[in-house]
Amino acid sequence: MTAELSPIDKAKYVAARRAVEFVEDGMRVGLGTGSTAAWMVRCLGELVREDGMKITGVATSARTAQLAAEVGVPIKTLDEVRWLDLTIDGADEYDANLNLIKGGGGALLQEKIVATASDQMIVIADPTKQVDALGAFPLPVEVIPFGWQTTKALIEEMLSNVDVLGRAASLRLNGGTPFKTDEGNFILDLHLRRIANPTQLSLVLNQIPGVVENGLFLDICDVIVIGKPDGTVEVRDINNGTVEHERIDIADTENLFVDKAE
Ligand code: A5P
Repeated sequence: MTAELSPIDKAKYVAARRAVEFVEDGMRVGLGTGSTAAWMVRCLGELVREDGMKITGVATSARTAQLAAEVGVPIKTLDEVRWLDLTIDGADEYDANLNLIKGGGGALLQEKIVATASDQMIVIADPTKQVDALGAFPLPVEVIPFGWQTTKALIEEMLSNVDVLGRAASLRLNGGTPFKTDEGNFILDLHLRRIANPTQLSLVLNQIPGVVENGLFLDICDVIVIGKPDGTVEVRDINNGTVEHERIDIADTENLFVDKAE
């Protein structure tokens, strides 16, 4: 079965497999969104079904909640759980300080709320997501539909005063109509190419009326597990300053592929 995995799926899978080793019985776990996070949800489902692990998941999107239900991970809302031990999520970009761009899948708002409500955030990614400076990946910004064109104009005006290489903003579309988030909001993608000061940009973006949240996750991620197509992982802990390299055993994965939905 594992032979059917593409190199990139193998990298995502081994990152997810290593990350779920951080999950302990009884934990409340934030479940991220995206193709890498989906592997993590499947791995957790296997631990629940086959090892009897007792965990409570809080999903960061409707599609993650659906996958969790399919693979047997019990789900509660954040309001029921209030605080989480751990969140595991993917990322669109990460830098050397483990600052991130997220929201490529449009779930950045719930992802940021859930990650911020967690004692620890673990990011799972492949090496293609690493950058020297954030911004090559378009920065997603969630905006209220009311007056979104005015909000876009205000963002573009603000961008002329910050240190970025590109200043174009585009409304994210889905089949010709505006993409809608789980909260019914729109996403503006900012094509900045290079963000010199992510902290400043995040603060000024969130001061614009109409902006709900932006996809910069700064000083939130504690550990990154970087999966590689050769079946190895690199685990970087920003708090301890440690970097470890390990090989992940992927021999016994039949049940995960049966569940594979994406
Ligand atoms: C979802 O909104 C995003 O933040 C994802 O976590 C991010 O886009 C990574 O997705 P992939 O794992 O599919 O690359």
